Amino acid sequence: MSESTAAHLDRHDTIRAVAYADGVLRLLDQRELPFTEVQIECRNAEAVAKAIRDLAVRGAPAIGIAAAWGVVLQAGLLDNAGHPVSVAALASTFDTLNAARPTAVNLAWALARMRAALVAAKNDPLHALTAEARAIQDQDLVANRTMGGIGASFFTDGIGVLTHCNTGSLATAGFGTALGVIRAGFAAGKIKQVYAGETRPWLQGARLTMWELVRDRIPAKLVADSAASHLMKSGAVQWVIVGADRIAANGDTANKIGTYQLAISAKRHGAKFMVVAPWSTVDMQTRHGDDIEIELRDPAELLSVAGRRTVVAGADAWNPVFDVTPAELIDVIVTERGAIEKPFGPGLAKLAGTRD
Ligand code: MRU
Repeated sequence: MSESTAAHLDRHDTIRAVAYADGVLRLLDQRELPFTEVQIECRNAEAVAKAIRDLAVRGAPAIGIAAAWGVVLQAGLLDNAGHPVSVAALASTFDTLNAARPTAVNLAWALARMRAALVAAKNDPLHALTAEARAIQDQDLVANRTMGGIGASFFTDGIGVLTHCNTGSLATAGFGTALGVIRAGFAAGKIKQVYAGETRPWLQGARLTMWELVRDRIPAKLVADSAASHLMKSGAVQWVIVGADRIAANGDTANKIGTYQLAISAKRHGAKFMVVAPWSTVDMQTRHGDDIEIELRDPAELLSVAGRRTVVAGADAWNPVFDVTPAELIDVIVTERGAIEKPFGPGLAKLAGTRD
């Protein structure tokens, strides 16, 4: 990458949602964006687990990173109290953090790395855990920059793209996955127009992705989720670009609810469909998408808008917050280890054997 391209990308990498220093984890509270930029301070693992459950921090890579720092916080409390920092002493911490959300495999992946670092630690387990959490966070940022370049290489000039949910700096260590590819594609002069689906019910697209795109002065239009097929029929979208919460060994991909219907519509209208995710989102132990647990959240999230009830009293709702896009509807999966086209199974297996 040339120096000027790197500098250009730096201008698109200014937001940090997760920051640790001196026994405090500061999280940019994503429930308050875009109008209020406020940080919450976590001093123990339970506070981090609550922030993950309540979506103060969200996005698959970001919750893995936050959980890793949650282990460090709890280990620090043990250490300060003169107790040994061990796997046994932190067993309930690992369980609590792991149970915070079920679908994104990055959470379990990050905690497995932290456990392994603890097991391998010789004489300073707190130092080893801190170094591992830092490495998880730093490597995610590097992966995102790498994926940006790989993903953008698929684009021709002057294209329109549609994205869903928020996959940007807020959802990661920085720069973003799908939004990182969009940033890189815009910086390379290839993307002319971005469309962002609002992503009901939590409005990650409207509140978070539009905030990131407007800050970066990337031409972006918000669309209602229900406008996506009409938009694609118009020919304005050449690529649909989304992130992932878990990619099964056959390429089936769990992502924010509504992704599946975008993939169906893209196929119908001749738009290409790209999934962008770091290798930490690939779960080779899960053979296909039917085995991925889909998080069901409180129906109340659907019954109100911005805290104001919009549905008649007594009404019920069904609120799955992820769906699975079958591999056959995906054109390319971009990871930092490389891009894969169909058939995804052998391609993923091959990349699983490589190192970053
Ligand atoms: O419920 P959320 O906001 O955590 O869901 C986030 C998504 O579905 C993202 O698309 C995914 O985690 C990838 S983020 C780089």
